[in-house]
Amino acid sequence: MTRLLAIDAAGIAEAAALLSAGELVAFGTETVYGLGADATDALAVARVFEAKGRPRFNPLICHFPDAETAWAHVEPPPVARALAARFWPGPLTLVLRRRSDSAVSQLAAAGLDTLAVRVPAHRAALDLLRVVGRPIAAPSANPSGRISPTTASHVLQGLAGRIAAVLDSGPCVVGVESTVLDVTGAAAILLRPGGVTAESIAEITGPLRRPAGPAIRSPGMLASHYAPSLPVRMDATSVAADEMLLAFGPPLAGAKAVYQLSERQDLAEAAARLFAGLQALDACDRAAGIAAMAIPATGLGRAINDRLLRASLPRR
Ligand code: TXA
Ligand code: MG
Repeated sequence: MTRLLAIDAAGIAEAAALLSAGELVAFGTETVYGLGADATDALAVARVFEAKGRPRFNPLICHFPDAETAWAHVEPPPVARALAARFWPGPLTLVLRRRSDSAVSQLAAAGLDTLAVRVPAHRAALDLLRVVGRPIAAPSANPSGRISPTTASHVLQGLAGRIAAVLDSGPCVVGVESTVLDVTGAAAILLRPGGVTAESIAEITGPLRRPAGPAIRSPGMLASHYAPSLPVRMDATSVAADEMLLAFGPPLAGAKAVYQLSERQDLAEAAARLFAGLQALDACDRAAGIAAMAIPATGLGRAINDRLLRASLPRR
């Protein structure tokens, strides 16, 4: 049963306790309702993808109560600080280099060395973020492929029974998602138009660059998502002596090294460990490739297989 919580102190305390326990709680922001999870808890983040039925692991936005708290996880250049001073709290998401000591899970960032951070302009959301005291990953609180919800009942229509609670803060005032801006390079790149206009951002950043065309959606997306440098071979039924094994259940014999995604073949556990596993195997010396055991193509298995397929495609 999904509980509907009020935005009083008791409701916010309850929502924070659920999030701290690894449960999923949807909450209103000024843009749309987000499906929140403790970003430092990979299993909780895996459940977000499961609840949304997302066929792939997109990197998620981490939400913070203020800029200082966000800066503990990323490295903001001066332009990012200026944007935050001007637009936070508000519907602007900044993609920044992730600090190596950030506790945000690899899965929340889809294995990237960047992190998207935002401070929402919404009183109850900020109260919740302060009380929970951890970065909260929150994609829009809708099943994959459906429109983003702007009321609590809209959230329940899509996700009732699949999440612990919804913090009901009434309708969202902006109604479209935040603007996503990559400020990791010399020129800011507009990744997604949203609640803050490109014109007002350009006043601070100078001319914006557009992302590099529709190739981003195709296998070329490998460039923007973490891809291991070693070739990946899917659905392996045997392992060569110079291969590393990404195991799912009892491991195949003979690998140079084994990373176990889930001994008990649990898809949420495997999803939570996927990016860390690819990076661990990739860091091993003198291996010729990564052999990945078959993952069932159901539920989160679809997203895992999507990621492995991207990693297995020929490189440019
Ligand atoms: O308004 C919003 O931003 C809402 C509310 C809940 O805060 N959240 C939201 O999250 O729209 P989501 O997951 O639906 O969208 C996240 C967007 C995606 O387009 C994703 O590709 C991009 O942000 N993104 C996240 N992390 C990124 C990263 N490290 N690099 C590039 N893009 C990133
Ligand atoms: Mg969305």
